[in-house]
Amino acid sequence: MKYKLLRLTCVVALLFSIHMQGQLKKDAQKQMDTYVSSLLKNMTLEEKLGQLNLVTPIARTGPFATKNASDKMKDGSAGNIFGLHGSPSSIHMRLALSENSRLKIPLLSGLDIVHGFKTVFPIPLGLSCSWDPALIEKTARIAAVEASALGYNWTFSPMVDITRDPRWGRVMEGSGEDPYLGSLIARAMVKGYQGSDLNDDTSLIACVKHFALYGAPEAGRDYNTADMSRLTMYQYYLPPYKAAVDAGAGSIMVSFNDIEGIPATSNKWLLTDLLRKEWGFKGFVVSDFNGIQELMNHGVAADLKEAAELSLTAGVDMDMVSEALIASLKQSVKDGHVSMDQINAACRRVLEAKYKLGLFTNPYRNYDPAKADLVSLTEENRKVAKDATLRSIVLLKNDKATLPLKKNAKIALIGPFANNQNEMFSSWTLKGDVPSVVTIYEGLKKQNPDITYVQGTQVSGDPGLKLKGEPFDAALQEELVAAAMNVAKQADVIVVVLGESSAMSGEARSRTDLSLPNCQSELLKRLKSIGKPVVLLLVNGRPMTLADDLPYADAVLDIWRPGTEAGSAVADILFGAYNPTGKLTMTFPRSVGQIPIYYNTKNTGRPYTEGTEGFFSSYIDQSNTPLYPFGYGLSYTKFIYGAITLNASVLKGNNANLTASITITNSGSYAGEETVQLYIADPVASVSRAVKELKGFQKVFLQPGESKKVNFTITTEELKFFNSDLNWDWESGTFLVYIGGNSQSCEKAEFVWKK
Ligand code: BGC
Repeated sequence: MKYKLLRLTCVVALLFSIHMQGQLKKDAQKQMDTYVSSLLKNMTLEEKLGQLNLVTPIARTGPFATKNASDKMKDGSAGNIFGLHGSPSSIHMRLALSENSRLKIPLLSGLDIVHGFKTVFPIPLGLSCSWDPALIEKTARIAAVEASALGYNWTFSPMVDITRDPRWGRVMEGSGEDPYLGSLIARAMVKGYQGSDLNDDTSLIACVKHFALYGAPEAGRDYNTADMSRLTMYQYYLPPYKAAVDAGAGSIMVSFNDIEGIPATSNKWLLTDLLRKEWGFKGFVVSDFNGIQELMNHGVAADLKEAAELSLTAGVDMDMVSEALIASLKQSVKDGHVSMDQINAACRRVLEAKYKLGLFTNPYRNYDPAKADLVSLTEENRKVAKDATLRSIVLLKNDKATLPLKKNAKIALIGPFANNQNEMFSSWTLKGDVPSVVTIYEGLKKQNPDITYVQGTQVSGDPGLKLKGEPFDAALQEELVAAAMNVAKQADVIVVVLGESSAMSGEARSRTDLSLPNCQSELLKRLKSIGKPVVLLLVNGRPMTLADDLPYADAVLDIWRPGTEAGSAVADILFGAYNPTGKLTMTFPRSVGQIPIYYNTKNTGRPYTEGTEGFFSSYIDQSNTPLYPFGYGLSYTKFIYGAITLNASVLKGNNANLTASITITNSGSYAGEETVQLYIADPVASVSRAVKELKGFQKVFLQPGESKKVNFTITTEELKFFNSDLNWDWESGTFLVYIGGNSQSCEKAEFVWKK
């Protein structure tokens, strides 16, 4: 009786607290509405258009910078800025320019804070290989704390575009090919940047990009058209954007590409019907760099005025750099092409963002250069960076247990990226602190002084590869290789650091050849000919075609672009203090001809079985299988998977749930962590489904000889898919459950689930 009463009291208290929270939210919303409405009433049309204008003093990724940006901030015709660089005081001075405007509305101050700020974490594609959303959330939180202290309040991140084509240089900015994992990471990053409350002065507004389908440009060529069915969009490409929106992302950036023939920037279905009406997005929408003006190149607008009208009426609220809205919309209102209601709605959304950030009460929020020094690159931040790098590194090959290395091995460290601080960053590390980077050489030397470093090769002499900087010098190359051979001959083990330079991946860095540049491959071959063990550390921003190079390396670690703690993390892995745990989130093809290649592909009407011949869906010159599949990554130890057991084989109805269990054993001699992956397939449905889809994963840490049972709960949520009416539902039938250490080698079991 007493217990029942207590329970009742608890329930009432809980309900009351939920009610109060709801009430507080409503009150806050009301206060914001009142504030913004009264401000809007006071604003001229010009001032409103100023709030829709985003300017930049530098043309990093676009065709031009904004002319007279400072004057525009002073007179209120530029209500927002991004890409502020320079000393903290000059940043502050420019933010303060808005105080000269009539209404003194503070500025949104944006920047591409993509994988860290001063403390740099691995590139997002690398980070995603950690399969660790909680860790990724921490990295975003650290970036927000460091950046907000220098006057930024808005980050153009996360990039959540699904990517199946490594020719596209921007795959490095995202989380790979899978919508389930991509959604978890999208949510984590939004939470990390925005914190629990935007009003907290260390929070940044996240900007989810690039909406939508930017990760699927035809031929992997940047900015190219993306054409796919709605079914594919809904099932595979849209979920991470939706997850970020559901997590409360404050803004979204429109992609450059067209969708179904209409550029995203003027696509009303995308920006209004889907984003606002179907998903209930409440933040503001910004175009990408000059995206509105580019509607003319797309061939859907005859002039800038038409471009402005199309984009505003489609659902764009803010114009990045093209200044089309500010230049044209006054006339458009007069002409009756755009209504004041539409302008007010866009302006309200921008003002609401500023209100939520607390800018109206504290325009500079967390800005404090002295504090910035204290909160940046702290021991704790660097610890998280090291952890993130350790967890992002993927062991691709380890023949004859070449790794870990003996602590006292005499090492020849060779390669253009092995002792280069800048190269541990990416083309998106705008504020990263270069001097604090631990190079691979420094990291290894600290743990083993018996090491000699030589450069060994230039980055590339391939005539087709346009790289700025020093031209390839054949005589120099000979000298570099000769020196490398000398050093290598005297060592016990050769560690060679090769791959892509930071200029080879990122925006406008599409490639048709994904192999190592020729001079690097040649060096690798020469080194292997010495007969010593060769460890290849791959520095890269995308999956590469390594098939021809693999025979010349006994062990391969993909270290991506590892960030501030590059060397300390790599050293821990090479010498065995950390046993690699990373798992690929993008398939590695054998050749460019296999692209696009991804694990959640269709069966087709003529599925191919390797080794057979005939009229099947295959190539006559190459296997269908990838070089390394999604989810792949080795460990210094070996994990053995038992058979899957299910607690039921036939289930019924929406409320049932199934437990799939499997026992994993560490049969090797190192303690290690495995990411146990759960995939489900629906072989017979009303639409063709993928051969399997990731639906869950768990990490297990096992001592040598230890076994653990891992249980996954499967509900009808995991069976759902978008049917041809675009309804998210499940259908009765037989399903397959796969559990394994990567998407290709899994245990399998079968169950039936009926409506
Ligand atoms: C990129 C965006 C970026 C913007 C501002 C554009 O070229 O596509 O991802 O946020 O530039 O730097």
